[in-house]
Amino acid sequence: MAKILVNNSGPLHGEVWISGAKNSVLPLLAATLMTADTCVIEDVPDLADVSVMKKMLCNYGAKIDDAEEGTIKISTPEIISCEGDRELVQEMRASLFTMGPMLARYGKIVMPMPGGCTIGKRPIDLHLKGFRALGAEVVEDDENEQVTVTAGPEGLTGDVIYLDFPSVGATENILMAATLAKGTTIIENAAKEPEIIDLANQLNKMGARIKSAGTDMIRIEGVEKLSGCIHEAIPDRIETGTFMLAAAITRGDVLIRNALPGHVRPIIAKLRECNVGIEVTPEGIYVDARDRDLIATDIKTLPYPGFPTDIQSPFMAFLTTVNGSSVVRETVFENRFMHVVELNRMGAGIEIENREAIVPGGKQLKGAKVRATDLRAGAAMVLAGLAATGTTEISEIYHIERGYENFVGKFKAIGADIMKISND
Ligand code: UD1
Repeated sequence: MAKILVNNSGPLHGEVWISGAKNSVLPLLAATLMTADTCVIEDVPDLADVSVMKKMLCNYGAKIDDAEEGTIKISTPEIISCEGDRELVQEMRASLFTMGPMLARYGKIVMPMPGGCTIGKRPIDLHLKGFRALGAEVVEDDENEQVTVTAGPEGLTGDVIYLDFPSVGATENILMAATLAKGTTIIENAAKEPEIIDLANQLNKMGARIKSAGTDMIRIEGVEKLSGCIHEAIPDRIETGTFMLAAAITRGDVLIRNALPGHVRPIIAKLRECNVGIEVTPEGIYVDARDRDLIATDIKTLPYPGFPTDIQSPFMAFLTTVNGSSVVRETVFENRFMHVVELNRMGAGIEIENREAIVPGGKQLKGAKVRATDLRAGAAMVLAGLAATGTTEISEIYHIERGYENFVGKFKAIGADIMKISND
C-alpha cells in the first residue's frame, strides 16, 4: 500500500493553482446522463473519484472522450442499464448523484447502498423523500442492500419538497430529477453550497428552467428535453482552504491562485481571528502567517455559508499549534472526529466530548505513523506532518487521492518536504 512521508518543512512559500471542484464535477458529470447530446465539462481534476464517476456513467451507456487533459466530452445516446454498479457505489457515495438523472431520463434506477468516507451514518432518506414527492415509487430492499426507484408511466411530476436538513446530495439529486418532471417543483430548505449553483448553471445551459439556486428555496419549471452544453467547473473551495491552512500551520506565506474568495469567507474569517494575515488580491488569496503570534479560536461546522465540515479536520490540525485552547463543534456529520486519534498520536492532546473536540493548542507536534481515516482527515495529517518534528508516515492515502489533484506535487512546489512511497 502506498504511503506519504512528510518531514518538518519550515515555512511554505510560493504559489498554488487551485483545481476544479471535486464536489461540483461529480454532479456535473452525472447530469450529462439526462441528454443524448454531447456535453463538454471543463476544468475537471484528475482524481480517483472522477474515474469512479466515469466508470459509473459508462455502465449506464455513456461514451466518454477524455483525451484532452482537464476536459471530458461525454454523450449518452441511449441508456443500456439502469443498475448502479455495486463495487463503484461502495467505493464512492457520490455515485448516488446518478439516481436523479437516471430517474428523469430512463424512469428507473436500481441503486446498491453507498460507501464513501467513513464519517458516521449517512442515510439517503432525504433523496428518497424527494423522489417520492415527484411521484416515484421507492422500494427499499434491505436484504439485498439496494433501492429501486421507478417513475410512473407518465414520468415524474413537480411538487413542493421540504428538506428536513439542507443536504447537498439530496438537493442535487432532486434538482436533477425535477428538471425533466412535469410542472413546477420547489425545494424548500435546500442546500445553498456553491456547487449547487454550479450544477444549476450547467443544467440551465442544457435547457433547464431553474431559478434561485444558491438560496434555500429553489424553483424548477420542468422541461421536456435537455440538450448538450459546454461548462467549466468552479474552483475547489476545500482545496483552497487546505492550502490556506498549509501556509498557516507552517507559518509561511502562500498565494492561492484560481480561488474564489466569496466561497471561502468563513475560512478567511476564522484564520483572521487566529491573527493570520489574509489579503484578497486580483491575483488570488494571499495568506501570510510569518512572524505573527497566532491565537486560538472556536469552530462550529454548519451548512453553507457556515464553516465547512470538510475543513474541520485540517483546521483542527492547525489549531493544535497555536496558543490557547479551542472548541471545535461538528454539527453536520455524526462521527467526524476520526482524525482526533491520529492527531493525538502526534501529541495533540485533544479530548472529545459528544460532538465537541477540545483542542489544548500550543503543541509542538511530533512525527508518527498515522492513518488517513477519510479524505479530509488525510489532508489534516499532511498539514500536521509539515509542522511536526521528524517524519510523519501516512497510510491509507487512497482517501487523499480520491479528492485532491496532484496533492504531493502541489505541496512540493511550495517547499514541502513530502513524498509518496510505494511499499511494493
Ligand atoms: C456533500 C459533500 C461532502 C460534504 C457534505 C456536507 C459531495 C460529493 N460531498 O456530501 O464533501 O462534507 O456535502 O457539506 O458533494 N443526510 C441525511 N439524509 C439524507 C442525506 C443526508 O440525514 O438523505 C445527513 C447526512 O447524514 C449528514 C448531513 O445530512 O449528516 C449532510 O449530508 P449531505 O449534505 O447530504 O452531504 P453529502 O451530499 O453526502
